[in-house]
Amino acid sequence: MIKVAPSLLAADFSRLAEEIRTVKTADFLHLDVMDGHFVPNLTIGPCVIESIRPHTDLPFDTHLMIDNPLNYIEPFAKAGSDYITVHVEQPDDIGECIRLIQSFGKKAGLAVSPDTPVSLLIPYLDCISMITVMSVYPGFGGQKFIETAYEKIKNIKQMIGKKDILLSVDGGVNADNARTLERCGVTMAVAGSSVFGADNRAAAIAQIRGE
Ligand code: DX5
Ligand code: ZN
Repeated sequence: MIKVAPSLLAADFSRLAEEIRTVKTADFLHLDVMDGHFVPNLTIGPCVIESIRPHTDLPFDTHLMIDNPLNYIEPFAKAGSDYITVHVEQPDDIGECIRLIQSFGKKAGLAVSPDTPVSLLIPYLDCISMITVMSVYPGFGGQKFIETAYEKIKNIKQMIGKKDILLSVDGGVNADNARTLERCGVTMAVAGSSVFGADNRAAAIAQIRGE
């Protein structure tokens, strides 16, 4: 069964603690960090992550859609992230980002945007714990799933082989495409609108998981 990571971006930001309690049956909480440079949108920073940390036991999957993550990995680690993902398209040295994340005892992930070749991941496969395949252009929740992600996921699955790396898909994921994604090799689904847009979040999570 695939793991489900509701994306807090689709929650009601005026009552985050309450919203987080409605997704306690999930496997992770996905936190979208945007800087207005790497993507044309701004969201949350370490202080919000620190404030919500006491409200759930779910591991935090922090998705940094920011330029120069080397400057910010420490505060995101100290705020309570468990996994920290940087994009392969950002300008900082990827190996250094991974080492810095791990130096704080956190798991490192790499994300690839829709137009980025998956071969860029190859040099890092022995030292990362998660790969996030973007199935929308990063920057906004509620976008339509880009179908080319299926082929990309299959290729990455081959590359991963037996390595212990979570293969996550992020953007436009719902109960309708989750089974196809699972067959392609996805082991973790990030879902914003399809979870927080549902009246019954536990049911939405169960459907995506395939229960
Ligand atoms: C997009 C974010 C996603 C997004 C997912 O830049 O990384 O996590 O919020 O939201 P939905 O599921 O609504 O596409
Ligand atoms: Zn995300």
